[in-house]
Amino acid sequence: MRRLLTLSLYEAFVILAACGSLVSQTPPPTPVPLVRTAAMSTAHNPEGYAGAKACAMCHKDETNGLGDNPHAKLALEHDGTGVTCEGCHGPGKAHVQSGGEVSKIFSFTRATPKQIDERCLQCHQGDHAGFDRSAHGEAKVDCTSCHSIHKAQDRGALLKIAQPALCYSCHKDVKPDFSKPFHHKVNEGVMKCTDCHDPHGTFQKSMVKSSAQEDAVCIKCHQENAGPFIYEHPVVKTEGCTFCHSPHGSQNPRLLARNNLNQLCLQCHTGLKGTQFTAGGPPTSPVHDQAMQYTSCVICHSQIHGSNVVDTFIR
Ligand code: HEC
Ligand code: HEC
Ligand code: HEC
Ligand code: HEC
Ligand code: HEC
Ligand code: HEC
Ligand code: HEC
Ligand code: HEC
Ligand code: HEC
Ligand code: HEC
Repeated sequence: MRRLLTLSLYEAFVILAACGSLVSQTPPPTPVPLVRTAAMSTAHNPEGYAGAKACAMCHKDETNGLGDNPHAKLALEHDGTGVTCEGCHGPGKAHVQSGGEVSKIFSFTRATPKQIDERCLQCHQGDHAGFDRSAHGEAKVDCTSCHSIHKAQDRGALLKIAQPALCYSCHKDVKPDFSKPFHHKVNEGVMKCTDCHDPHGTFQKSMVKSSAQEDAVCIKCHQENAGPFIYEHPVVKTEGCTFCHSPHGSQNPRLLARNNLNQLCLQCHTGLKGTQFTAGGPPTSPVHDQAMQYTSCVICHSQIHGSNVVDTFIR
């Protein structure tokens, strides 16, 4: 994040430099540690700003509560030059002089989602540049729907309440999936929604965490199922893991998407009754006659994700 702040400040400097008239008020950016962005605006553009000490006179709760906040920590570490009240609430001199006129200060609880996001993104643009275009951004779920600066219960990432309760508070329909007999252990605290999703947006459908490879999100933890294999089962790459597995939870062992495994296979491998497979030639073995008996395909085709031994995935 620091690096990205560097970039945005540098850009700001370039823009300001281009404006000419403002250059005189703007310090050269390079020698100053860039986490001090907000402070710089306070320290070097004192006009309109009152300073955090003034706020403390009337807002004890917010001031005291901010002590161990990552925003304030920097302020303490850098001689009061970190992110202070006015870094977020904007210049407060007029508010102070009026004895606390509410219309003279930026209030997050009165602002529109767009205004809130813009405020936070002034500094966090680097972390979450695509937020506007995310499902949350588009649905006007703003930063403060999930984050709280002064009243965070989960202090780590300043979340209003911890996951998964935070996510369930809106995504009630997803909750039952994680109570099914087979599920990823999110409720048990073994993993989090954000192991697979980035609530700030990704380039994938459903804001699934992304990288160049589409199934990267699963492969992070299940490398052995992804290969590469000498004999690949193409469906793993073409359709992806979620063609066969329900990522949240399932009634079926191995999180399988169908309770009848054979039907899952037969969607593609049709014509099993001695006629023809769409994929591969017709097998002569009677075990493939679905009319005779039900035997799970993976009893024999146990290396269903791919094999380094045979192209029929039986070993
Ligand atoms: C002289 C006392 C005083 C000082 C100094 C002061 N405030 Fe306030 N502030 C108030 C009062 C009074 C309110 C209204 C409280 C209410 O309605 O509950 C208020 C409200 C606010 C609000 C909420 C606005 C809203 O819409 O409800 C914010 C945010 C705020 N102040 C921030 C600041 C910041 C930042 C500073 C320092 C720059 C500051 N205040 C300094 C007295 C003060
Ligand atoms: C990192 C950004 C940030 C910083 C720094 C910050 N605030 Fe806030 N403040 C917020 C947000 C966001 C809210 C809305 C409630 C919440 O999320 O906790 C808020 C709410 C408030 C409120 C309550 C008004 C309301 O709208 O309900 C007051 C008063 C206030 N802040 C004063 C301060 C003071 C005084 C400081 C400095 C000691 C400060 N804030 C520092 C972001 C910030
Ligand atoms: C003036 C700049 C500034 C503004 C405005 C600002 N932040 Fe920050 N924020 C920071 C800095 C600097 C840090 C500390 C980063 C670090 O330690 O690397 C931080 C830390 C955080 C963290 C914790 C990151 C972590 O890794 O633990 C969260 C969450 C966060 N900010 C959310 C917000 C939200 C939400 C808002 C708007 C209400 C906001 N910030 C407004 C500068 C800002
Ligand atoms: C739908 C909920 C949600 C919204 C909306 C949201 N966040 Fe977050 N944010 C989270 C969660 C959850 C985490 C913790 C991620 C983790 O633990 O892996 C987080 C983490 C962060 C962090 C820490 C660094 C990181 O990326 O992990 C920052 C900074 C941050 N958010 C800023 C913002 C800003 C700025 C906005 C608005 C533009 C915003 N968030 C909107 C849920 C949200
Ligand atoms: C304040 C309510 C709220 C909270 C809290 C919230 N969401 Fe959302 N989320 C929404 C809304 C509204 C949408 C967009 C409409 C929809 O697709 O349901 C959305 C969309 C999504 C989507 C995309 C759905 C799709 O079909 O593309 C995912 C994934 C998601 N949220 C995950 C999360 C996660 C993970 C968390 C917790 C870190 C979270 N949400 C917290 C309200 C919320
Ligand atoms: C093991 C990875 C994983 C975990 C953990 C996970 N998800 Fe998902 N989630 C996915 C994938 C993959 C999809 C896309 C499914 C698809 O496209 O068929 C998805 C889809 C979604 C959707 C949109 C479609 C739907 O089912 O409504 C929402 C909303 C969602 N997840 C919310 C959550 C929430 C909330 C949590 C935590 C309680 C969570 N997810 C945990 C992988 C995961
Ligand atoms: C953060 C790590 C992580 C990610 C990401 C993840 N998983 Fe898992 N997965 C696990 C763990 C841990 C277990 C075993 C949990 C348990 O004991 O229930 C598991 C169990 C499974 C199982 C059942 C295994 C069995 O033996 O019954 C399947 C199938 C599975 N995951 C598929 C997926 C798919 C598909 C994805 C991508 C959408 C995915 N996983 C993403 C950690 C992860
Ligand atoms: C063609 C359907 C299909 C696809 C695509 C698929 N799987 Fe599977 N997977 C299965 C079946 C069937 C089983 C059960 C095997 C058994 O019971 O012997 C299984 C079992 C698993 C297991 C349980 C442990 C193990 O190794 O047998 C994990 C973990 C798993 N798959 C992860 C993944 C991941 C990750 C992907 C994507 C890279 C993926 N699967 C793609 C069908 C599929
Ligand atoms: C989405 C379609 C799809 C699904 C579902 C699917 N497969 Fe496949 N399968 C393929 C394709 C495509 C090939 C490659 C055919 C080729 O190379 O001629 C293949 C190849 C195979 C082969 C090797 C065939 C050969 O000629 O070497 C076996 C065995 C196989 N699949 C078994 C299964 C089983 C068992 C399941 C269910 C767990 C399954 N498949 C699910 C599409 C699918
Ligand atoms: C009792 C073990 C067994 C079961 C159960 C089984 N197969 Fe096979 N399968 C084999 C063997 C052995 C071969 C390779 C020899 C052959 O062609 O008959 C094979 C070959 C295949 C081939 C490649 C075609 C070919 O002729 O090379 C496909 C595709 C296939 N099986 C799919 C399936 C599907 C789908 C199921 C479940 C509906 C299934 N198998 C159930 C043992 C089995």
